[in-house]
Amino acid sequence: MTMTTQQQTEIQVNRAFGIKAPDTIRVPGFDSPGPFTPPLKADYQFRSGLLSDLLCWHRGIAAGQHHDGLWLTGPMGAGKSSLIAQTAARLNLNLIQVNGRRRLEIADLLGHLTAIGGDVLFQDGPLTTAARLGAWFLFNEADLVEPGELAGLNTVLDGGPLVLADNGGEVVTPAPGFGIVCTANTAGQADATGLYAGVQRMNGALLDRFWVVEVDYPEPDQEADLIAQAVPALPTEIVHKMIEVAGEVRRLFVGQRDDGPAIELTLSTRTLVRWAYLTLQFKGAPQPLDHALKRALTGRAEPETAEAIHGIVQRLCGGTP
Ligand SMILES: Nc1ncnc2c1ncn2[C@@H]1O[C@H](COP(=O)(O)OP(=O)(O)OP(=O)(O)O)[C@@H](O)[C@H]1O
Ligand SMILES: [Mg+2]
Repeated sequence: MTMTTQQQTEIQVNRAFGIKAPDTIRVPGFDSPGPFTPPLKADYQFRSGLLSDLLCWHRGIAAGQHHDGLWLTGPMGAGKSSLIAQTAARLNLNLIQVNGRRRLEIADLLGHLTAIGGDVLFQDGPLTTAARLGAWFLFNEADLVEPGELAGLNTVLDGGPLVLADNGGEVVTPAPGFGIVCTANTAGQADATGLYAGVQRMNGALLDRFWVVEVDYPEPDQEADLIAQAVPALPTEIVHKMIEVAGEVRRLFVGQRDDGPAIELTLSTRTLVRWAYLTLQFKGAPQPLDHALKRALTGRAEPETAEAIHGIVQRLCGGTP
């Protein structure tokens, strides 16, 4: 087996992330990708505020100054998971990801015994692999997990070791660089709106070990750039109209309008990119924007909501070919 060794290096932030910053600002990373470095998306748009929070957390973790987790909270499809993956890609960090679900057990993340050729061997789970490698461990939708179960991370969030009971009690001290990031639609306090099914109220002692960063939808200009990058053939004026529609739908979703009812779904950045893509695919249809939006979003909406959203499209984009 050939092993490529990654050399630690200091990475210049403005060059690696395409944002404005003095040349002297650097963060720890590696000179080449590791076995679990995610693929880089060259068109990913970093937001400097979010990036500065994330890199500050990373610096502290890399220097062993703290072991806190990072809790990214925000609405669906706003760019939480992709921020972590694309930052890891630019810094050549290893990233191991899992998805939360109600019955997930920390023991599953540690590893399990498995029969290989007549022997019973212990196989590391994703958390153990991340700890041994000094990787980032990304726990997506962490607020879906049973709160008591997630509190099993408390020791490691205090800088303590993992203990593998199934492997004869092996004690794994995480390698430098290991850190835990959770993404969730809530900040762990459960969901008062009822929009995010299955979300649980997290254990307070667990949350006390996290930095909390909010990730909202990008500003309109930035979202326009992002769509232009993803679907370059779509005319700019259509992109701007779509973003106006998204703004109105999002305001309805959070109930910020007093002249209309709140709606049960919203138009995420993820959906916006899909809508733009489908609009281009269906450009020969009589009403490409409506046609595409039905497939991208409103096909799963309540009929009144679909009507309200298509009404917004008519009003804002009525004259658009
Ligand atoms: N800054 C960005 N640059 C480019 N594309 C982006 C950006 N932010 C979000 N996207 C697009 O939006 C999609 C959704 O982003 P992501 O999966 O990170 O959202 P999320 O907040 O983790 O959502 P969820 O809560 O549903 O897990 C991405 O696949 C990408 O297409
Ligand atoms: Mg996500």
